Amino acid sequence: MTDTTPKKLHIKTYGCQMNVYDSDRMAGLLAPLGYALTDVVDDADMVLLNTCHIREKAAEKVYSELGRINKMKQARQADGGAMILGVAGCVAQAEGEEVLKRAPYVDMVFGPQTYHRLPEMVARLHREKGAQLDTDFPEESKFDHLTAPGRVEGRAAFLTVQEGCDKFCTFCVVPYTRGAEFSRPVDQVLAEARQLVAQGAVEITLLGQNVNAYHGTDADGAELGLGGLIRRLAEIDGIARLRYTTSYPAEVDDALIAAHRDVPELMPYLHLPVQSGSDRVLKAMNRRHGRDFYIDLVARLRAARPDLGLSSDFIVGFPGETDADFQDTLSLVREVGYVQAYSFKYSPRPGTPAAAMELQVPEDVKDARLKELQDLLNTQQLAFNQACVGRTLPVLLDRPGRHAGQLLGRSPYMQAVHVDAPADWLGRVADLKIVSAGGNSLGAVLADASEQPAARRSA
Ligand code: 5AD
Ligand code: SF4
Repeated sequence: MTDTTPKKLHIKTYGCQMNVYDSDRMAGLLAPLGYALTDVVDDADMVLLNTCHIREKAAEKVYSELGRINKMKQARQADGGAMILGVAGCVAQAEGEEVLKRAPYVDMVFGPQTYHRLPEMVARLHREKGAQLDTDFPEESKFDHLTAPGRVEGRAAFLTVQEGCDKFCTFCVVPYTRGAEFSRPVDQVLAEARQLVAQGAVEITLLGQNVNAYHGTDADGAELGLGGLIRRLAEIDGIARLRYTTSYPAEVDDALIAAHRDVPELMPYLHLPVQSGSDRVLKAMNRRHGRDFYIDLVARLRAARPDLGLSSDFIVGFPGETDADFQDTLSLVREVGYVQAYSFKYSPRPGTPAAAMELQVPEDVKDARLKELQDLLNTQQLAFNQACVGRTLPVLLDRPGRHAGQLLGRSPYMQAVHVDAPADWLGRVADLKIVSAGGNSLGAVLADASEQPAARRSA
C-alpha cells in the first residue's frame, strides 16, 4: 500500500545555532520522503523535538512537552490518522532508552550522530504499519530494476522470487522505492518454473533485489530459504541450470553454501557484491559485513564448490573514501580474484543518507580510481578467460551467432561463447572445447568433433 498524500513535518528546535542547522538538515533528509514543513503542531504527520541539554531541567521540559504533543497524537489516532513523534538532539543522546521508558508513545529517539539514518528510521516505521512511503526518490533504472518475471529469452528464463530490500545501504534508493523484503510462496515459484520449462526454458535465473533473503513458505507451511528452494527447483524435470542474483553477503547461510556443494544444476558462478574493500567505507555504507567476513565467506563458498567463479559490484569515491581505503578495495580484488565485475563511480542519489555526507570525493579522483579498478578487473577477467582455453565447458547454445553456421551461448561462468555448430543444436547444453579467448568472449569447437576448423577469434 503506497500512501500518496503529502505529509507535514513540524520540527521544534531548542537551544543553539547548531541545533537550528541540524533541524534544517533533518527537514532536507525527509523532503524526498514526501514531508513538507508546517508551523502547526497538531496538523503534523510527524513532530520532531530537536532538543538541547544545556539548560537546567532541559530533560524535564522535554518530557512535559512530549506529554502535551501526545494528547494531539492520541486525538489524531482517534480520528483515524497518525502522528510520528521523534526526539532528536542532545537530550535524546543523553537519555537514550530512558525516553522510550518514560514516554513509550515516542516512535524514534536519535542523537546527532545518527541523523543520516532518519530516512531509514521513517521508512521502517511506515513498513511496520504496513504502508509504503510515497517518495520523491528517482527510480534509477540502472540500479533499481529487475527483469520482468517469467520472461524466456532463448532457453534462459528469469523468475522473480523475492522483491524489496531491508538493508538500507546509505548510497542506495532501492529500500525506499521498492519497499520491504517480500518472498513469493514456494508453490507459486515452483509452478512458474514448470511453466517456464513448458515454454522451453532450460536455465532459470532466480531474481530478487536481495535474493538470498528469500524466505518462502511451502504448501505444508514449512519455511524454505534460498538453498532449500534451489533444491526443490533442481528436482523439476527439464531444468538443466539454475542461477540466482543479486545476493547480499551477510545473508549467505550454510544451507545456501551446501546447495552450491550438492546441487549440480546450480551453476558455479556467483554475483556477490562487496562494494568496497575498506572496513571504514563499508561501515559508512551501512553494509552489515566487513572485509574479513566477505573474504572468509568466499573461502567457505569455494570450499563447497572449488570451481566457483565470482563477480561483484564496486563503488569508488564513496564520501570520505581516502586513497588508503581505495587501496583496500584493490587489495581485496587481488585477494578474491573475480571472473568479471561491475564498477561504478559513487553518484549521490538525492535523499539518500550518503548524498548528505560531508567529504564528497572530487570527480577527477573518482575517475582515476574507477580507471585503476577497472584495469585490474579487466586484467583478471582476461586472465580467467585465457585460462579456459583448452578446457571443455558445457555451454547453453541459446542464440544464432553473427555469422552463418555460428551459434552463441553462455558458459557456466556467464562468458559468451561462439562456435560453428549445426543450427538444430540451438537450445542444447553442449560440451564445447574452448580454443580462443578475448576480454569479453570465448571461441570454441564441438568437443566431440575436434577435427573441425577452429572457431573464429573472439572480440
Ligand atoms: N552510486 C553508485 N553506484 C551505486 N549503486 C547503487 N547505488 C549507487 C550509487 N548511488 C551500485 C551498487 C549496486 C549496483 C546495482 O549499483 O554497486 O550493487
Ligand atoms: Fe541497495 Fe543492495 Fe544495499 Fe539493498 S542491499 S540497499 S538493494 S545496495
